[in-house]
Amino acid sequence: MADSDTRAGERHATVPILDYVNRVHAAHDAGLARAFEVPDGIPAIQVSPSDGKLLELLLRLAGAAKVVEVGTLVGYSAVHLARALAPGGHLWSIEFDPHHAEVARGNLAAAGFADRVTVLVGAGRDVLPTLESHAPFDAVFIDADKVNYHHYGKWAIDHLRRGGLVLGDNAYLFGELLHDTDRGHAMRSFHELVAASCDSVCATTPEGLVIGIKR
Ligand code: SAH
Ligand code: DHB
Ligand code: MG
Repeated sequence: MADSDTRAGERHATVPILDYVNRVHAAHDAGLARAFEVPDGIPAIQVSPSDGKLLELLLRLAGAAKVVEVGTLVGYSAVHLARALAPGGHLWSIEFDPHHAEVARGNLAAAGFADRVTVLVGAGRDVLPTLESHAPFDAVFIDADKVNYHHYGKWAIDHLRRGGLVLGDNAYLFGELLHDTDRGHAMRSFHELVAASCDSVCATTPEGLVIGIKR
């Protein structure tokens, strides 16, 4: 396999180009615009508009109805995921910080998804087992504490239907994927677990997005 530096081509994703393609392909309606605004005191670490739209399209392609998210923040990615749900579907989104969860519930209600999304407060490792009666799931989106990605990925593989999607944001670990740290090891274990149990790719979004279809 060719090394990544043997392929010709430069990076062309300038800020004006990204602004243009976000506007053309991933324009915000009122619900997305509200959820994209992060209040003072909460970090603005939501997915980008194009990455949110990508999640939405992937869920639609999979016909996803039952979806789990780990890491709600204030609900921007959750609005994208909720927009994609098949009729009768539901999103369970887990958030450790009660203030983030409260803001997210307001945003999801304003976007019209109060009855299709449940925001659960707690640590992913504690809350995920409480969702098992709803399994198997059609998609799991992982975007919370990086040191637990392998744990979340294992849970996802164990509770997804065949053909279901496991998705993981920040898969380059902010440039630290190859570091000899706890979260470096956890993120590499996540990559390798998904590759072993799914047809997978790490999409080269700015942050890296793992996409796996469970075998
Ligand atoms: N998915 C969101 C962004 C999530 S940011 C979006 O794109 O809109 C990561 C979130 O994970 C933060 O809100 C943080 O409070 C939460 N988090 C951190 N550790 C967590 C844990 N152990 N369990 C659940 N959520 C956690
Ligand atoms: C951080 C977390 C994220 O999920 C993200 O997409 C960007 C940054 C962070 O913890 O800094
Ligand atoms: Mg993220």
